[in-house]
Amino acid sequence: MIESPYRHDFPFFDSQKKKLKRAYLDSAATTQKPSSVIEELVHFYTKDNANIYRGIYATSQRATSKFEAVRDKVKTFINASERTEIIFTKGTTQSLNWIVFGYFWDRLHSDDEILISVMEHHSNLVPWQQLAIHTGAKLNYVNLDEDQQLDIDDFKAKLNSRVKVVALTHVSNVLGCLNPVTQITTLAHKFGAKVVIDGAQAIGHMSVDVQEINCDFYAFSGHKAFAPTGVGVLYGKKELLEKMTPLEYGGEMISDVNYQNTSFKELPLRLEAGTQNISGVIGLGAALDYLNKCKLNEIECYIKKLTKLAFEQLISIPEVIIYGSKNASFHQGIISFNIKGIHPHDVATVLDIKGVEIRAGHHCAQVLMRYLKIPACLRLSLHIYNDETDIQQLIIALHEVLRFFKHGS
Ligand code: ALA
Repeated sequence: MIESPYRHDFPFFDSQKKKLKRAYLDSAATTQKPSSVIEELVHFYTKDNANIYRGIYATSQRATSKFEAVRDKVKTFINASERTEIIFTKGTTQSLNWIVFGYFWDRLHSDDEILISVMEHHSNLVPWQQLAIHTGAKLNYVNLDEDQQLDIDDFKAKLNSRVKVVALTHVSNVLGCLNPVTQITTLAHKFGAKVVIDGAQAIGHMSVDVQEINCDFYAFSGHKAFAPTGVGVLYGKKELLEKMTPLEYGGEMISDVNYQNTSFKELPLRLEAGTQNISGVIGLGAALDYLNKCKLNEIECYIKKLTKLAFEQLISIPEVIIYGSKNASFHQGIISFNIKGIHPHDVATVLDIKGVEIRAGHHCAQVLMRYLKIPACLRLSLHIYNDETDIQQLIIALHEVLRFFKHGS
């Protein structure tokens, strides 16, 4: 029996003990929060709450140092070379939008190309479409190989000196595959293209080293890695962030405002206008402390073990069609599937009655749904608080779904 050594750290699961056990299998959408993060938020609001940078008084200074200490934690967590390369945002979507609209918007031309993949989440697809429409640049897609992984040969074939930017997810939110982002970056840089990585599904699941990947930008959200919602990170190489146009103007990002013009602060504040999500950032710091305490290699190992079990149990049901690799070890805690002849929303509705919480839909990846020729699918996504009982509950419930829809009882 695979038991989670981490589950007791998450009060969400205690709160359910007296009711029908809920198998929360939607961590790719958002994670539950450990008590250390919740306590840090309570501590902040009860002891340290003041606006940052603005106050000469003690509470404001304490809040400011706590906030800025998180920038250092993020720098270390993703191994950025400088703390000024860490910009706080609302989440991955905002980070990616700022990259597209703040950096690439005026830098591409009609004879340029943008290379993304068919597995991208809308956040790493729709902004690039808008850029293509604005500039006339061609938006090109890398396809999947026979095992429904990123087709590296197709990537190489589509890479050329017209490609100015390659934007790719680190881990697919549907296929669960881990893309070879370091190899992709090396190849893209040979043609002078910049590389943007969507790290939403990788962060908190494995160690991320932006210097080793050598990507130009990396985006992630806190809430998929145990932090509160509404906080995320935009990492960029300093020389690129320095050239980025702020998309928001206002308090704290200025150095001097005159009647007709303004001079701006240095990084990172130049890109962080207005009052920040102070408690969110402080919560992110606590989440990173928790992840460091659990050790990312152990987290990765635990999730792999559980994913393998879920995969084996799912393929033992003949009606199940799994998307993504046929090899369980290529699924990073995410398995998407359908049940032949039953709409995924119907499956998810019955699963919910049985206490199983998984996502059904297009998962903000409609291009991928089109590519796979399916309208939607089910997705289970695991994190360290899940255990074998959650998988068992899912499998038993799926058999009940089959009984219900096949035999009407
Ligand atoms: N992007 C999140 C998901 O894949 C919400 O579910």
